Amino acid sequence: MSLPSPSPTTDVIVTGASSGIGTELARGLARRGHNLVLVVRRKDRLDALAESVRADHGVAVTVRPCDLGDAADRAALIEELRDTGVSCTALCPGPVPTEWASVAGAQSWMLGSVTVSAEQVAEDGITGMAQGKRSVVPGVVPKAVATAGRFVPRTMLLPGITLSERFRRG
Ligand SMILES: NC(=O)c1ccc[n+]([C@@H]2O[C@H](COP(=O)([O-])OP(=O)(O)OC[C@H]3O[C@@H](n4cnc5c(N)ncnc54)[C@H](OP(=O)(O)O)[C@@H]3O)[C@@H](O)[C@H]2O)c1
Repeated sequence: MSLPSPSPTTDVIVTGASSGIGTELARGLARRGHNLVLVVRRKDRLDALAESVRADHGVAVTVRPCDLGDAADRAALIEELRDTGVSCTALCPGPVPTEWASVAGAQSWMLGSVTVSAEQVAEDGITGMAQGKRSVVPGVVPKAVATAGRFVPRTMLLPGITLSERFRRG
């Protein structure tokens, strides 16, 4: 199932909505009139986002704190979603300038010519959801790398990535 038309009886769940790409997804979906369920760990930051999205777009926003790294938390969320008809689109970006680089220690991946803004990544993700895509890779270079990666054997690809990461870190 693709992204349904906005209606009072459907919600779009956004994970990681307190920062970066997730925040832009929440804003982009609300702009289109979708009610939202926002999932993250930091409830304080989400409350502020929920407030501003409600005020800007008049949609219903539910804050659902959940640590997706915790098996019990994750199982509870999956149970809530069972039989709701929920579908899922995986958004697989290349480098995007957000908090992620410092959290993941990946500043060396933020090559100016390759980065795509969080807003653009979110827009591509929402378009992909509307088209019922299972996964979306935003940006020309990330798309080319993802496509090329399919034709390279894993035994070569993984050592290659490790080497390039070592080279970049110096
Ligand atoms: N930015 C990039 O260059 C890049 C590249 C490739 C892939 N990605 C992936 O894209 C996704 C979003 O990245 P971003 O750049 O928007 O990162 P970000 O700005 O650091 O945001 C990450 C979001 O995920 C939430 N989160 C982290 N751990 C969580 C957990 N255990 N349970 C629930 N929520 C959790 C964070 O909120 P709380 O801390 O409040 O939970 C935050 O809202 C990440 O999965 C990242 O790995 C990003």
